[in-house]
Amino acid sequence: MSAGKAGQAGPPNRPDQLIRVALLGSGGSIGRQTVDVLARHPELFRVVALATGSQGQILEEQARLLKPAVVSLAEGRSTRLDLPAGTEFIAGPDALETLATRPDVDLVVVATGGLVALRSVLAALEAGKVVATANKETLVAGGHLVMPLVRRLAAGAAGATGDAHHPLANPLGWLRPIDSEHSAIWQCLVGEDHRAIERLLLTASGGPFLDTGVADLATVTPEQALRHPTWTMGAKITVDSATLANKGLEIIEARWLYDVPLSAITVVIHPQSVVHSAVQFVDGSVKAQLGTPDMRLPIQYALTYPERMASAAAPVDLIAAGRLEFRAPDEGRFPALRIAREAGQAGPRASTAVISADEVAVARFLRGSLDFNGIPRLLGAAVERFGSGSPIEPPLDQLIGLDAEVRQFAETYR
Ligand SMILES: NC(=O)c1ccc[n+]([C@@H]2O[C@H](COP(=O)([O-])OP(=O)(O)OC[C@H]3O[C@@H](n4cnc5c(N)ncnc54)[C@H](OP(=O)(O)O)[C@@H]3O)[C@@H](O)[C@H]2O)c1
Repeated sequence: MSAGKAGQAGPPNRPDQLIRVALLGSGGSIGRQTVDVLARHPELFRVVALATGSQGQILEEQARLLKPAVVSLAEGRSTRLDLPAGTEFIAGPDALETLATRPDVDLVVVATGGLVALRSVLAALEAGKVVATANKETLVAGGHLVMPLVRRLAAGAAGATGDAHHPLANPLGWLRPIDSEHSAIWQCLVGEDHRAIERLLLTASGGPFLDTGVADLATVTPEQALRHPTWTMGAKITVDSATLANKGLEIIEARWLYDVPLSAITVVIHPQSVVHSAVQFVDGSVKAQLGTPDMRLPIQYALTYPERMASAAAPVDLIAAGRLEFRAPDEGRFPALRIAREAGQAGPRASTAVISADEVAVARFLRGSLDFNGIPRLLGAAVERFGSGSPIEPPLDQLIGLDAEVRQFAETYR
């Protein structure tokens, strides 16, 4: 593996040095924004593969725009897509892994939800691909499987280049966070010594119910929960932002990415979503990354790291932003935050119980079979039922099995 354009992995001496990308989950909120970033930079990227779950029509449009070598649908073995000449179609359960490990792919973008891409992420890293992930569940459940691979790749790059400061000599060069908070922390850490980190300050907008009383939370409707005050995102993560479960998952994601104890991560409610997160250093300095709430910025940073280029995201106007507020989260009204943090402390088994239960809980809330306060209740019950036991750090197949068990429990939980 060697460094190509923008510090990317890629075979040496390839004439064009374009970064060859596979995008998993191209039809979703992050997926479509990633397509936008890729399409704006044909001088940097060649899109080799696109995969989505079921949205054939969006995939057709994306294929016409980007002319990938291959596209795939998870649910569409019999689907007939109208694809440009030269674009192959594959389908089925192994499609993601096939695309993520192709020899002509340098970088895999993970924009799927849940654990559907965990196996593919591990396979891609084993195959020496850079992975840029918006998906947090992969790390929340599988951080113990992912991070050793990432560290091994970084150590290999440090040895091969003889340069400890090479972008790929850092684990974050191989596993690049797209989540805006984790991208912010990553950007604050560039050029810093890891030993100088005192605390990570993870900001949260607080969601649409920041000041809603606990009794009123019981009657919150899906429509209200889907009205996020600052970000436009997929339905699942929008509801997770309203319960603060999302921030709980992000604490665990940060613990794996930045190798700090959970006790060194503080959640700060910041309703304006201008400060995307910050790092406090041992000397008391705090570095923060600020921006408008536009995911195309962290997506692009993960794709072009260590370089920056012009982006479609508008820069933040601090004078227009005016007052920036910060306060502590209320775990009494939003217990999902505490439940997720404690699950992170207990280990990957308990963290998996949270994400698997949460996916079902949110789906049930959206279809009306669980009330808003039922979401954290269900998460707590899932952790109690599945969180202890051994092994605390399950291997991949056991994790996938645990995911299925928890989901079944969550579907019938009353
Ligand atoms: N949205 C945001 O702003 C944001 C911000 C930070 C982090 N994230 C994280 O990013 C991830 C994606 O979030 P999102 O909001 O973009 O979700 P989303 O809108 O629900 O998109 C998920 C995508 O994954 C696709 N998919 C599902 N199963 C698949 C499979 N087996 N193979 C291929 N594709 C599959 C879906 O396909 P179909 O639609 O075709 O069925 C959909 O396009 C989540 O982990 C989320 O927490 C999102």
